[in-house]
Amino acid sequence: MLEREAPDDTTAEDPPVYTLGSDPAERDRLRRQSQELGHHAAALMDHAGLKPGHEAIDLGCGPVGVIELLAERVAPGGRAIGLDANADHCALA
Ligand SMILES: C[S@@+](CC[C@H](N)C(=O)[O-])C[C@H]1O[C@@H](n2cnc3c(N)ncnc32)[C@H](O)[C@@H]1O
Repeated sequence: MLEREAPDDTTAEDPPVYTLGSDPAERDRLRRQSQELGHHAAALMDHAGLKPGHEAIDLGCGPVGVIELLAERVAPGGRAIGLDANADHCALA
């Protein structure tokens, strides 16, 4: 088995920076992207085999995107968790 340590180039004081940022313009872009591509994302989700009661995690959930689609598919009784490096994005999601 090959194990490799992650590069230690960030610290809690120096979190990773998302290249596209998180200003209002980028949030609007993500909202538009979610609306325009939502049906493609939904079609992909339908192939993932998610069922009510499942748990799913959206890594890099952004302010909007696929977490809503995950939540719809695992309800009732399931859980969709969004994780994002940006606290504002988490709050909006
Ligand atoms: C293009 S957005 C995707 C938004 C949403 N998931 C969608 O499908 O539209 C990428 C998101 O990933 C987050 N992100 C980037 N690098 C990350 C990291 N290392 N850990 C956690 N979140 C990260 C950014 O803050 C940003 O909100």
